[in-house]
Amino acid sequence: MALVPGNTEILACNPDSLELAAKLLRGGELVAVPTETVYGLAGVATNPQALGKIYAAKGRPLTNPLIIHVALDLGSVNDLDQSKIIDASSLSSQAYNTLDRLIGLFWPGPLTLIAPRGARIPNEVTAGGSTVAIRQSSHPDFQHLLKQVREPLAAPSANRSNRISPTTANHVYEELKGRIPLILDGGSCQVGVESTVIQTLQDGSLQILRPGGITQEHLIKEGFSIPTNRLAPDLQPPSKSTLPLMSPGQLPVHYAPETPLYMLVPDAEIVKKIAASLNHPSHTPPKIVLISLRSDTLAWWEHQLKDVAGPGLVILAPTRRDDSQTIARELFSLLRQADQLAPQLIFIDHPPEQGDLWPAIFDRLKRASKKIIYKNQLDRFTPTFSDRSRRKS
Ligand code: TXA
Ligand code: MG
Repeated sequence: MALVPGNTEILACNPDSLELAAKLLRGGELVAVPTETVYGLAGVATNPQALGKIYAAKGRPLTNPLIIHVALDLGSVNDLDQSKIIDASSLSSQAYNTLDRLIGLFWPGPLTLIAPRGARIPNEVTAGGSTVAIRQSSHPDFQHLLKQVREPLAAPSANRSNRISPTTANHVYEELKGRIPLILDGGSCQVGVESTVIQTLQDGSLQILRPGGITQEHLIKEGFSIPTNRLAPDLQPPSKSTLPLMSPGQLPVHYAPETPLYMLVPDAEIVKKIAASLNHPSHTPPKIVLISLRSDTLAWWEHQLKDVAGPGLVILAPTRRDDSQTIARELFSLLRQADQLAPQLIFIDHPPEQGDLWPAIFDRLKRASKKIIYKNQLDRFTPTFSDRSRRKS
């Protein structure tokens, strides 16, 4: 089929659409593709022009490196070294073994590994750095495509920079319509949050750079060593004095919805403060969205927000509360739905920080949220409400 220039087509994954996608990719074009984590924006990793288009379509700073996705036949450190995607010569034997075991255990799957960059990897992939991030996705359609293209594909998440990652083809369309020719629709992503990114150190131990679908428990169960002082900062247990009541942005904001998002533990003082501000005469009855992740706080929320928002309260929830896998899968979709209702603000339950996919969920919510408020700073907290008419979209 012919594609109309400037149009973005969504096609279900089938042999014809995959063939068309492979043709576009080989011609230096971009195609959005499903993976088991989130949708990716793919371009041939060895083609600097295609890589330039990825940065442009996303509005991504050139300093933020891309992940390379490889086919199933590259299933060991040796394979990656032979194909010059990585350069294994500078790895210690411990680091080599750790990488090889990680690949054997968790590929294909939601795990991205950082390794010394091989000769075939252009500067545009690594943002000039000496390491490259590599992943082997388990999504059958993406694997089919990689086999047809016969080149590794660079694919960051298929959202514009600093926005929520897409977990459906329609999300990608919302993000990139008019900027890319084709979106392959492979249904909803199974994991729902981006892959775990791991750096292997020369002593064979690990550092988690981004929590994701392969959890700390998976890694420890398999005998990998992750010294506590090398856990991602988000995974460090918080000290008592600074226990967050609301979290966000001491980190660069990522994945942010347009509406201010507040992640809260049930604390009547904070809700009172917000309520007082909302009742200010200049505010018409506010529209508030609550994303309710926990069953143990729902009654509390309903009670607290009944008088604050009245009929303006909309409650969204995952198909199973309290279950980190379900919540990870549905999180980005819930954030998009909440944002599309155009409320003044979104509240979301503060999730647990440890265990299963909770660290990944907490990490994404921290980056998406508006403010971080510590209990001892409560008196300095002024809620900010969005005036969407004044925001640029
Ligand atoms: O699940 C995923 O990983 C998705 C799907 C599409 O594969 N991709 C994804 O890509 O999340 P992106 O570009 O949105 O996130 C890649 C992350 C960024 O935080 C980037 O800074 C980091 O990986 N990264 C890339 N290369 C790196 C490197 N050489 N060293 C350290 N971090 C790196
Ligand atoms: Mg991303």
